[in-house]
Amino acid sequence: MPATSGSSRSPRSSLSRRQVLAAGGTGLLAATASPAKAATARRGARTAAGGGTPEQVHLTWGDDPATSVVVSWASPGPAARPQVRIGQRVIAAETRPYTDGISGETVWTYHARVGGLRPGARYAYVVTADNDDDAADPFSATFRTAPRGRAPFRFTSFGDLGTPNTDWVLSYGQSAYAVEAVESFEPLFHLLNGDLCYANLNPAVQPQVWQDFGDNNEVSAANRPWMPCLGNHEVEFGNGPQGFASYLTRYTLPDNAVPGFGGRWYALRVGSVLFVSLDADDVVYQDAGAFVAGPAALVPAASTGNEPIEPGTSFYIRGYSGGAQTAWLEQTLAAGRGDESVDWIVVQMHQCATSSSARGNGSDLGIRQDWLPLFDRYEVDLVLAGHDHDYERTFPLRGSDPDAGRDPASGAVVDTLRPHPVTTEDAGVFDTSTGTVHLVLGCGGAVENLDDYGTGGADGRHQAKVLTRANRPAATSTSGVYSRPSSYAVEDAVWSAKRDTSTGYGIAVFDVDPGTEAGGQTSITVSYYHAVGADPVNPATGAVGGPTPDYTEFETFTLVRPRADGARTARSASTDQTITRA
Ligand SMILES: [Fe+2]
Repeated sequence: MPATSGSSRSPRSSLSRRQVLAAGGTGLLAATASPAKAATARRGARTAAGGGTPEQVHLTWGDDPATSVVVSWASPGPAARPQVRIGQRVIAAETRPYTDGISGETVWTYHARVGGLRPGARYAYVVTADNDDDAADPFSATFRTAPRGRAPFRFTSFGDLGTPNTDWVLSYGQSAYAVEAVESFEPLFHLLNGDLCYANLNPAVQPQVWQDFGDNNEVSAANRPWMPCLGNHEVEFGNGPQGFASYLTRYTLPDNAVPGFGGRWYALRVGSVLFVSLDADDVVYQDAGAFVAGPAALVPAASTGNEPIEPGTSFYIRGYSGGAQTAWLEQTLAAGRGDESVDWIVVQMHQCATSSSARGNGSDLGIRQDWLPLFDRYEVDLVLAGHDHDYERTFPLRGSDPDAGRDPASGAVVDTLRPHPVTTEDAGVFDTSTGTVHLVLGCGGAVENLDDYGTGGADGRHQAKVLTRANRPAATSTSGVYSRPSSYAVEDAVWSAKRDTSTGYGIAVFDVDPGTEAGGQTSITVSYYHAVGADPVNPATGAVGGPTPDYTEFETFTLVRPRADGARTARSASTDQTITRA
């Protein structure tokens, strides 16, 4: 299992520069020549002149993961002719700087779109610039493109990572081990489910937090795409209409073709799986983005020209797309379910439709209202979330139970649109054509472990909090200080199948088996590995722990469904609507 120090840089590449050059004109590496492990590099100390020295190198999929990737990075100053080399190809990178709206610091980022690759092939690449301090032995790594068509592959997921630099709010040493854990499982790619580094909780030093995040991630993200989604902690004061400038500048993501909202949500195809990445900030009721509690105002650097942000101000962006995201989602899901080359639909988002975390955020009615009916109609198989720093799995869910919530103070009935489990038998094999399985995976590395869960439901059942309205800032009894008091209904969490009470840290590993014959069965085997002892303080036992490299298996289960290349129709249990595949 992973073993590493808490440093933010990895050991020198195991792939020598000579090996890279020996790969010849195409950059394509023979499978036997490729290192299985991380191939990132520790570079020398930066010099003032080496402003273009690459750092924070990370990959994302291009629009077609079988043939394209994007190589992105940053540098301390402006780079001269930033570029990626693959074999004899030299791909010029786009320079995309931004100036942080609080500190006034300018951040230099670069993005090289690499297309024309072969499916299922490994490539070596080099990142450099004319003013790269390491130009004589530049950064190098390898990656593998996605397979074409129905083929087995592995992906991994968690959210809520943070950085290993404990100077920053919510950062923790586990985030370095978490990155190493991704590498140890050697997935084709990783899904990072929002709340990347909590820069907005460190508003005076946002670029520094992002830098530590990027350098920590490079250990894995330079070797395989890490595909992110937006969380509430990507919402930053002074950084664009939704506060996403830091995120959007650092990532180049597949095009959603929705004018004005590029990078905020996207879809991509790998093998027989359609991955749909959403920004739930757009639909959740919870107000959990950037916030000035007071009593002091947040005062941006004079160079920004931005006004002080007064106590009691929060950056609340619910509804920012005006319905554009949900309309795109429906079109995307309909097209996916109408495509006989798509078997699986996996959704990635940050906030939770189904979480019974007791001290954490809980479930949000906004997602249940806007998106769960679409997940039902188009038979989304799997939803991967974050936000609560724990692990929780649901039974397959379809439709909702009416009036199942209550106001905890008055006892009044509240309709929480409680998702309905199609079975409550935890059999270990679930047919997701009958219902959607949700996983809470906010288990990356953030220090605030939230792995205690609601109890007190009827008949000893689990109980969940459900946010049903906005928790906007309100004055407290302390003059000039504000809070965002949460308002919850509660419900018996009949949908909750499994909760990890031993640790809030772990990683989910997904192995896709496409099956062998048209119309036959396909499966995804899901294993959750957890880092026992990593909780600073376990909420259930009070045990004091610390960061650990040891990830051990917590549970394994299997999702199955019929392949889409057999019968031409599928019946949705909740809507009784027949979907005809094109
Ligand atoms: Fe969050």
